[in-house]
Amino acid sequence: MRCTLLLAAVNFMLLPGLASAQNGPQNLEFYPTNITRGELIAEMRHFSFALGVRCEHCHTPNENGRGFDFASDANPNKEKARVMLFMTDAINSQFLPELRDRKNPVVEVTCKTCHRGTVRPRLLWQEMVLTTYEEGVEAAIEQFSQLREDYDNSGAYDFREQETNVVAEELAREGRHEDAIAIWMMNAERFPQSDAIQSGMGESFEALGDTTGAIQAYEAALLLNPNRNDVRRSLDALKGE
Ligand code: HEC
Ligand code: HEC
Repeated sequence: MRCTLLLAAVNFMLLPGLASAQNGPQNLEFYPTNITRGELIAEMRHFSFALGVRCEHCHTPNENGRGFDFASDANPNKEKARVMLFMTDAINSQFLPELRDRKNPVVEVTCKTCHRGTVRPRLLWQEMVLTTYEEGVEAAIEQFSQLREDYDNSGAYDFREQETNVVAEELAREGRHEDAIAIWMMNAERFPQSDAIQSGMGESFEALGDTTGAIQAYEAALLLNPNRNDVRRSLDALKGE
């Protein structure tokens, strides 16, 4: 790759103007410099779609405000995308071929395999935990509704029960029990039949020393699933106190 890049630079110096006259690419580090414009643009469209962005997410506008200086590396997202190109290529050409008995055609990792139409491929629970840390749990709950509206059915986020239970579990693990309870309550509204939500909520109430809240949640869990002996034991222990 380095070698091709050097050659391209030399050509450019010897024949000033030619590269731009031909309007060929001038600053490729990943793609071969003889890639056709059509092929390159097809790749670029694929990026844009995979990340849910437009060309300007990675490319710098021309100074006169018309069109883009595509060769410029001024936009940091372009360099990040380059790292991603080399990474994706390494996965496909170095790591995956180590697997035995692959089916043909092989499963190729593409930008969309991870990004699924988002700029940063975080899982729903990762988005919500991050937002809770940065902006508070109410913001995370709002974010849930917004993502659901924007991405429902796109496959970008998993909106099933387990995924949002993980948000509460992660927060509880960090000792943020009030935040965890707020998420459990959101989940209980969506999945009123889930004993897992009620028992998780009970544990956070218990951790906060709210015995009334804990008993109420454990009883709700047992009503939904009388086989939860672990919950029954916790409840008995609380009532015995
Ligand atoms: C996610 C980031 C990203 C997006 C979005 C993106 N590009 Fe690019 N583009 C790159 C990267 C990275 C390179 C350099 C590739 C390399 O080093 O081989 C590049 C290179 C180019 C080049 C070659 C420039 C040169 O002279 O070297 C053109 C032309 C281009 N992009 C057009 C587009 C168009 C048109 C769009 C919108 C449809 C677009 N790009 C969207 C990241 C992006
Ligand atoms: C194996 C999964 C995976 C693949 C494949 C992948 N990405 Fe990424 N990408 C990530 C992760 C994870 C991050 C976030 C890294 C971080 O910020 O810690 C990321 C971040 C980025 C960013 C920076 C986002 C930001 O604003 O910080 C860009 C741009 C990007 N990817 C573009 C691409 C493009 C273009 C492709 C295809 C050539 C691609 N990615 C393929 C996982 C992937």
